[in-house]
Amino acid sequence: MPVTLELTPDERPILAFAMPLVADWLNQGTSDHREVGASLRSVYEALVRAAEGPATVELSRDELYYLGLRLYPAAVQLEDYWLENKENREVGGEPAPFPSVLFERLARAYFPDAIDDPSIWDFETVAPFFGGVQRKLDELIRTQTRARGLYQREKTAIVRRLHEQREERARHRRTVVPLLGVATAFRRVARLEDLPPGALRRFDVDGKPIVALNLGGEVRVVDAICSHMKWNLARGWVEAGDKLTCSAHGAQYDVHTGRCVRGPFAPEFNRKHFFNGRLLSWLMAKRSCSDIRAYEAKVEDGEILVNLA
Ligand code: FES
Repeated sequence: MPVTLELTPDERPILAFAMPLVADWLNQGTSDHREVGASLRSVYEALVRAAEGPATVELSRDELYYLGLRLYPAAVQLEDYWLENKENREVGGEPAPFPSVLFERLARAYFPDAIDDPSIWDFETVAPFFGGVQRKLDELIRTQTRARGLYQREKTAIVRRLHEQREERARHRRTVVPLLGVATAFRRVARLEDLPPGALRRFDVDGKPIVALNLGGEVRVVDAICSHMKWNLARGWVEAGDKLTCSAHGAQYDVHTGRCVRGPFAPEFNRKHFFNGRLLSWLMAKRSCSDIRAYEAKVEDGEILVNLA
């Protein structure tokens, strides 16, 4: 059964730009992927032929799934190209090279100023529309497909990889990289007054358990589940200013990065917590922990917001 995606006029060029890129990416995959890629191209051609204004696009579940996964990489590719092009022109150099012929054709069709006049164009003007289409795709995937868990995992891995690559590229550029609208899908967590300085509390945001900590006015957010034996980290406490300690067996996480900085059953923990520590450390086989995720967080108008992307 096809699903229906409603687009505003401002969102049409976003999808029209991304669809052929996603189809091209699918064409490099298995025969199943190529089949989805070919059908996505026909949807694109129908969209291009449709009268101007708002549009309704019918997508199969596979088309929806891959569009949802690959819209963000398409946005990053556009932003990166524009940043490089702008910087090259500012220093009187050649225009930036296009990542592909297809990208050039699409960028010329839908975002010509990013190519011809990158100093007056700004990715931030289209980022909210990329974000809007992404949210609609995510919402449809949440309600339409049983593969939503897999989708979320794949998307998170893609976003994380792209963030690393972007930071790497930014190191080679002089330009400060603006935040991408798609990447900064902040969600409300709680009022700041519900998390006084020194407090840590567990919240569920979009079904994800997180712990928010107020370190003397600075809010940090990390996963709520300990990587050792899945204990609730909100039952723990903070040591050494920014190390969240699991109350079960003493694993410790840096609240800025989520890095596991101390494994379970550390001697200093065992000394204080005989039953949780020393006794169980004799019995339990698993003695290691892995990193958890730390999330971007901010406070706006007294509300704690978190970006789970
Ligand atoms: S469950 Fe957290 S340290 Fe064991």
